[in-house]
Amino acid sequence: MSSSNNAKFITFEGIDGCGKSTQAKLLLEYMNKSGVETILVREPGGTNISESIREILLHSSSGQMGDRTESLLMTASRAQLTQEVIIPNMEQGKFVIADRYSDSTLAYQGGGRNLDIEWLNELNNYATFTLLPDITFFVDIQPEEALRRLDNNKDRIEGIGIEFQTRIRKTYHELAERFNDRYVILDGYGEKGDIHQKVLNEMRRRKFVS
Ligand code: TYD
Repeated sequence: MSSSNNAKFITFEGIDGCGKSTQAKLLLEYMNKSGVETILVREPGGTNISESIREILLHSSSGQMGDRTESLLMTASRAQLTQEVIIPNMEQGKFVIADRYSDSTLAYQGGGRNLDIEWLNELNNYATFTLLPDITFFVDIQPEEALRRLDNNKDRIEGIGIEFQTRIRKTYHELAERFNDRYVILDGYGEKGDIHQKVLNEMRRRKFVS
């Protein structure tokens, strides 16, 4: 997509329970207070079709879902969200914040489920029309801490366990190295206000906000 306007695309990533959704919301509030038109989307979900896919993905009680099925549903949800919401809003000059995006598929289905990351990367390119984030904030905590923070109400994916989350976290670190032009690692153990300030500092450093 051509960036003939000031629209930016910011994503938040991390293992389950890391606190990224809180940070995404704090950034949304800040942007709107600053008068920058901004929307927040979450994945999987964010359109009628994508929310229906989310239901199948997270609350399906119909036995085992195959790893390839999971990958295709995650990216199908993303394709609809990108086409219906993200690209049109950016074309209108709005900032878009996403609570998870393509890197979640690389980390969870690639690192977590051991599917081929390069292949998933191609699948992501197809689903997203090759749209990439301008910044990806990776909120990093240890899986032990994350699981402590999650209540007992875990969804299908959150319930898988510590080794799964450990592989996902390792993959996020690999992605942070590979895509170091857009990745920013945030220490998820800090106070939420302090982490938010680090997010804003990075946004200012890149002149995305004043
Ligand atoms: P959600 O309740 O939204 O979790 P969180 O608040 O941690 O984002 O559930 C999303 C779950 O789906 C989460 O466990 C991560 C997983 N997921 C994938 O496995 N692959 C993906 O591509 C995406 C977007 C999410």
